[in-house]
Amino acid sequence: MEPSRQQAYLALIQQLLQCPSGEEPALLEAHRELLNAEFLATCEQVAQTLEERGDQNTALCLRNLATQLGCLHGVSCGSLMGVRTVLRLGDPRLRQSAKAVPDVHDPALRQLITDLHDTMEACSGAGLAAPQIGVLLRVVLFGCGGPNPRYPDAPPLPRTLLINPVLTPLGPERDEGWEGCLSVPGLRGRVSRWQRLRYQGIDGDGQPVDRCVEGFHARVVQHECDHLDGVLFPDRLSDPTAFGFIPELEAAGLIPA
Ligand code: NI
Repeated sequence: MEPSRQQAYLALIQQLLQCPSGEEPALLEAHRELLNAEFLATCEQVAQTLEERGDQNTALCLRNLATQLGCLHGVSCGSLMGVRTVLRLGDPRLRQSAKAVPDVHDPALRQLITDLHDTMEACSGAGLAAPQIGVLLRVVLFGCGGPNPRYPDAPPLPRTLLINPVLTPLGPERDEGWEGCLSVPGLRGRVSRWQRLRYQGIDGDGQPVDRCVEGFHARVVQHECDHLDGVLFPDRLSDPTAFGFIPELEAAGLIPA
């Protein structure tokens, strides 16, 4: 990103956070040229920094604004077409079971794949499942092909789109690890997952996917596929006390700062 562009995004974010409630739409309208997926990504980065400093309320405000922006301008601004609102814990749609995709060549599925890509990028997510954007189909996307700002210590995963996934654990071993979720913003919890597994499904081109994976890769697949059955990571905490807000967990030395 160009430094001058980034400065303009940061200046607008500052103005948004300071402007009186209700005046945000006029402010955004006056800066239409800045309203794109890059701006949303910058909002998310700033929200994360705020969270790390313990300012949960401002982070939440900024995320809400960015979400509204994605929704409002999704109809009128081409560059934001694919960025959708991520449903949050408490929304009953996250608790439903998703249906298998009957036809991988359905044009509606193309749009869903684009939306998943754009939304995951805008939120710097490690993964995203279709139910998280309100589409009850068995489709997940994960991996950004490089380091992820939300999980800087995690190994990069190949970008993978998986339709109608089937997971088979390989062996009885399980791993404990900390997880977060775009639908549970600001929180992390320790969850036990199968250490190694095989996953099979279909990619966005209708080609079969069949991989045996372990560790973080296996964890991400299990987390994303849980969303297809209405399960979120707080349902699977290994210990109810190993769950909380990121700055508090960092301060307690439970997760790396
Ligand atoms: Ni999730």
